[in-house]
Amino acid sequence: AIERTLSIIKPDAVAKNVIGQIYSRFEAADLKIIAARMVQLSRAEAEGFYAVHAARPFFNDLVNFMISGPVMVTVLEGENAILKHRDLMGATDPKKAEKGTIRADFADSIDANAVHGSDAAETAAVEIAYYFPALSIYSR
Ligand code: CMP
Repeated sequence: AIERTLSIIKPDAVAKNVIGQIYSRFEAADLKIIAARMVQLSRAEAEGFYAVHAARPFFNDLVNFMISGPVMVTVLEGENAILKHRDLMGATDPKKAEKGTIRADFADSIDANAVHGSDAAETAAVEIAYYFPALSIYSR
């Protein structure tokens, strides 16, 4: 089925100047960019986005990292987009990520892991709505 997923290029990968290289991988996999914006998240915005992780021991480090610089937030659309995007990203911990995945190629640690992607249809809908009003999403 055609799905939408939320992709975030995190501050480490933005700082490495690899937005285009990561976007190229999405395009090569037939994922279309249907909305995009660069944003410097406030602490409250980052905490809100990652609210499901609020009780986890890594929450503070995660929030501090996500506000350390601008991120590139994108909505991708395509066949099986959620799983396809997760496969392109590779495992959360880059040490465990398969060769040729975004995290294996661009991430330095489990915190600075280059990208975020929605993990299921329900979370994708919530995550997309967090950043984009319906009128700024251009399905095609
Ligand atoms: P992300 O997909 O953005 O979702 C939550 C983030 O928390 C995750 O990527 C990692 O960058 C970060 N994180 C740090 N430690 C852990 C951990 N032990 N398990 C899962 N995520 C972690």
